[in-house]
Amino acid sequence: MARAVNVAIVGAGLVGSAFINSLQSLRLSSITYNVILIARSSKALVSKQYTPLPLQTWSSDLAAASSSSVLSPGDLAAYLEKSPIPVILVDNTSNEALARVYPFLLQQGVSIATPNKKAFSSEYGLWTAIFEASANLTGAAKRGLVYHESTVGAGLPVISTLKDLVATGDELVKIEGIVSGTLSYIFNEFSTIGGEEVKKFSDVVLKAKELGYTEPDPREDLNGLDVARKLTILARLSGLEVKSATSFPVQSLIPTALESVEEVSDFLAKLPEYDAETEKLRRDAAAEGKVLRFVGKVDLSDGVSERVKVGIEKYDASHPFASLKGSDNVIAFHTKRYGRNPLIVQGAGAGAEVTAMGVLADVIKIAERIAT
Ligand SMILES: NC(=O)c1ccc[n+]([C@@H]2O[C@H](COP(=O)([O-])OP(=O)(O)OC[C@H]3O[C@@H](n4cnc5c(N)ncnc54)[C@H](OP(=O)(O)O)[C@@H]3O)[C@@H](O)[C@H]2O)c1
Repeated sequence: MARAVNVAIVGAGLVGSAFINSLQSLRLSSITYNVILIARSSKALVSKQYTPLPLQTWSSDLAAASSSSVLSPGDLAAYLEKSPIPVILVDNTSNEALARVYPFLLQQGVSIATPNKKAFSSEYGLWTAIFEASANLTGAAKRGLVYHESTVGAGLPVISTLKDLVATGDELVKIEGIVSGTLSYIFNEFSTIGGEEVKKFSDVVLKAKELGYTEPDPREDLNGLDVARKLTILARLSGLEVKSATSFPVQSLIPTALESVEEVSDFLAKLPEYDAETEKLRRDAAAEGKVLRFVGKVDLSDGVSERVKVGIEKYDASHPFASLKGSDNVIAFHTKRYGRNPLIVQGAGAGAEVTAMGVLADVIKIAERIAT
């Protein structure tokens, strides 16, 4: 008989919808994936008998579901714990309350695949609680597995590469990366090789917003916190006990004088008044034949005082980060084995399809280990 797992999908927005579509088009799988729950914040489809939900009509079925069908994190855990076959929770939200239930879910034998950064980049205690409760390190029977590839670089193989480097005994020297698609686009447009086409920083931010590359409030990208959360995850996987995403230097691109502005529209209207500051940085870099990029670094080399930091850096025109295009991400792993030429992972670091691909690949990896 074919092996099978139950799959509970919480979050049916951009990534969640793309995930369900990808799951339906899975080919050549020896494992059957039975979707038993699909939830968004206000509605849920729950198969009380743990029989598979019909996926062809999931969107209209979910829209027609009653709001009383939503499960609290506690009720969700109780429901999943009783699954008659191994179960994987796919958390496609950015919800912190759900992330905080991961240790309990893992202890109850529920496995988790997620692009939600909250669980892995909040306080260090939550990180240790998650991995101590999981079967990842111990292989403990009756514990769940947790995979989170898409928390950094969307579907790019960043976390799996880093884990493989560490597990095979390579010595990490430095990880350096452009891990925000939004800030990648902004700096690739603002600070170009040759620098002949001069654009104002505020104009580039506006353009990025118009193209849908930023959050509805671009300050959520400009404050550097998204990059800091991703660097927290990379640093912790490298063995550093990083307390939180605010426990190391993070450069904000929001001018200090605009920090207390409330409305997004007021912020965007005032941003051009501060273009001179970014323009000076751009011109100084160009005078050295360099470009500006917004980068996160984990530096494990001897004698370094700031092991983790996030902010603007200058790169020679010949550096791989200087020729980055569009909103691509790039992560360079400098290790003892790779020597002078780092292992580089590069490509689309945002977008529902590629993110969902990373989540589905995690689901498949988990299912291969737990399906019965
Ligand atoms: N989009 C990307 O390119 C990308 C890239 C990398 C990582 N990610 C990560 O992927 C995750 C999802 O992103 P997204 O772009 O798909 O966001 P989204 O479109 O806003 O979707 C989020 C979904 O989560 C649901 N949700 C929120 N709280 C919930 C709760 N308590 N219970 C059940 N459902 C809940 C929302 O419900 P409603 O529909 O009712 O609002 C919505 O369906 C986030 O963690 C994000 O950081 C996204």
